[in-house]
Amino acid sequence: MELNINTKRILVLHGPNLNLLGTREPEIYGNLTLNDINEILETRAKELGVDEINFLQSNFEGELVEAIQKARGRYDFILLNAAALTHYSIALRDAIAAIPVPVIEIHLSNVHKREEFRHKSVIAPVVMGQICGFGIDSYIAALEIAIRKLRRS
Ligand code: DQA
Repeated sequence: MELNINTKRILVLHGPNLNLLGTREPEIYGNLTLNDINEILETRAKELGVDEINFLQSNFEGELVEAIQKARGRYDFILLNAAALTHYSIALRDAIAAIPVPVIEIHLSNVHKREEFRHKSVIAPVVMGQICGFGIDSYIAALEIAIRKLRRS
């Protein structure tokens, strides 16, 4: 099998309660559903020449840990909105640290403007960077940055 070193494969992971987007606290998270967000990202990814973009939402920490573990050798970048797990999941932090795939941390809301328990991200020290506070544009910016990084690598 020929190895295509220019192939760009991106995994988007959404954590607990993000399946409720659209109806969940719209004043904080907006009116787009998770499906809307995924469709917008898929369209943008195609425009930018991404070969493959896949999406997973889970309310279960272990399922996200497994998805991160399996991303090794399969994906070039992970875009992760770990939702509430951001603030306390050492298991997620360790999974990210265990694989060489770069991760961008995303939040729809500006977590630093909200309750104090949201100010701490236990995954921040092991991700490439964090984008928060821009709604859907947090995801789009993360996608564009990932592609820019891949083009340069
Ligand atoms: C969130 C922020 C988290 O604090 C919260 O638990 C979420 C969503 C965001 O996208 O703004 O579920 O990650």
